Amino acid sequence: MATSSRLTEKIVNNKTLIYILSQRIQRRRLEDIKKATKKKQINLSDSFSSNVTHVVTESDNMQQVIRWLDLDSDADLHDVEVVTLTWLTDSLKAGKPVTVEAKHRVNQDSEESVDEEHSSSSNEPVVADWACQRVTLLRHHNHQFVDALEILQKYAEMRDVNQDYSRALAFRRASCVLKSLPFTVTSVSQIENIKDMGAHSLRVIQEILNSGVCQEVETIKKDDWFQKMKMFTSVFGVGPSTAKKWIERGWTSVRDAQQSDNISSDWRLIWGLAFHSDLMKPVLATEADVFTCIVREETDRLLPGAIVELTGGFRRKKQSGHDVDILITHPDEGKETGLLKQLLERLERRGLVLCGNLEKSTYTDDVLVRDFKLSMRGQLDHFEKWLGICKFHNSFQHGGGKDSTTAECVNRNASEDRMPCFHASLDDKDDYEPKAKLKKMAAENLTPKHIADSDRGWTARRVDLIICPFSQYWYALVGWTGSKHFNRDLRLYAQRVHNMKLTSHGLYSQAKGKIIAANSEKDVFDNLTIPYREPYERNC
Ligand code: UTP
Ligand code: MN
Repeated sequence: MATSSRLTEKIVNNKTLIYILSQRIQRRRLEDIKKATKKKQINLSDSFSSNVTHVVTESDNMQQVIRWLDLDSDADLHDVEVVTLTWLTDSLKAGKPVTVEAKHRVNQDSEESVDEEHSSSSNEPVVADWACQRVTLLRHHNHQFVDALEILQKYAEMRDVNQDYSRALAFRRASCVLKSLPFTVTSVSQIENIKDMGAHSLRVIQEILNSGVCQEVETIKKDDWFQKMKMFTSVFGVGPSTAKKWIERGWTSVRDAQQSDNISSDWRLIWGLAFHSDLMKPVLATEADVFTCIVREETDRLLPGAIVELTGGFRRKKQSGHDVDILITHPDEGKETGLLKQLLERLERRGLVLCGNLEKSTYTDDVLVRDFKLSMRGQLDHFEKWLGICKFHNSFQHGGGKDSTTAECVNRNASEDRMPCFHASLDDKDDYEPKAKLKKMAAENLTPKHIADSDRGWTARRVDLIICPFSQYWYALVGWTGSKHFNRDLRLYAQRVHNMKLTSHGLYSQAKGKIIAANSEKDVFDNLTIPYREPYERNC
């Protein structure tokens, strides 16, 4: 390893003999390198022997090299230079073996690295077969590839014809693997044997490694249809099929939809269009926290001991999101009945509600047992919930105000609020129904657009409030924490590996014909014999 005199002698006598360790080098790349080396008339050995002067490897760890060479200790490498591929590429560039510099040498002192820890005997990183078994953090090492694969996924989801659903899923699976790797991919050989890495995704990664970009992705990014689909589906209430209709009508901007009379009467769409620019702006974690505090405070007044949990991306430690998902329950099952409506009345009184729809629970026991679709979209559950838009005072962005508690601050903000709040009609239960609300507004010559254009100190934010019975709470918490792909994978795992049906309502063992209870979030994982992952580790 250090340049001994015998090595110097061998090299000086132009007896450079290279042995390339094939591990971790993609087959095709290895062939290309060998060809180029021979072309430059640099001697290559097919095996490791005492005549070898340079061992070339992709490993960055001497202990690993020793194992790969099947040696007992580094004493056997006494008069050999162990170098990385960069030395060989430098030599190929120079047309002859270059002097080995520190940067070329494999690190002798390095511990068996994180990378090593994740490597199997076949020198591939160990990646658990299921995304729900892996640790996937928000920050990872492969953004360049993941960003590209996510565009391909999105495009396939939007096209939504023939095989597009499974194509989209294949891209998702591949990007989930990349997110969980403890290193940046530098060669496709590092990942090509991982179960979830499909041929198409590998091609994309190879192209990015070669040239920095993938042509297919670049073409999609510039594609007019894709850009319009992205723009239209960013409107609350617009899914791919509505977006396609709008494109067919020749609409090119959200403004075209906003100015049209030909819009469905869906309350989501009406409010979504009026408040599009607000709803486009990401919700910040601080705002979500302040709002959750208010909901918790109001819930506590109505039903002391209730549990109010901010879920969704924010629970996974995301710093921004597209909405606020709050899950509510009470340890005395049954006490939560009727809570949501009262809570909404209180929030409305505080001037926090813009519009929304209360959905009754559609849960029946057979929901647990019945087959459900593990589709990309089909993660709908049967809880009582309110989906709507709330008014987040601008001070929420700074934690709800400096000199006061959140509650006081928001109380003050509510009274300062110049918005029409419909306080007068609180007794009329039908006013919570979106159509009734719009009708009442129309009678006062008021439209959502008027409100959007008014002088206001708040931003419209999407909010989901979900009520669940305590016996289903831990499953609901896992379900509403996500990520979507984590859930999809967990449900598929339950089905394939245990023949169990997992939903946000519970776990049902088909083999045993019974419901399996959980008394904590960890129980949910234990019941599936999966290692517990903290919410921030579920970002796949
Ligand atoms: P979101 O769509 O809000 O995702 O659903 P998110 O991870 O919070 O992303 P952003 O940051 O808002 O964009 C939250 C979780 O709730 C589940 C979804 O699968 C997701 O994991 N969910 C959603 C349900 O379980 N049931 C539903 O009816 C809707
Ligand atoms: Mn969310």
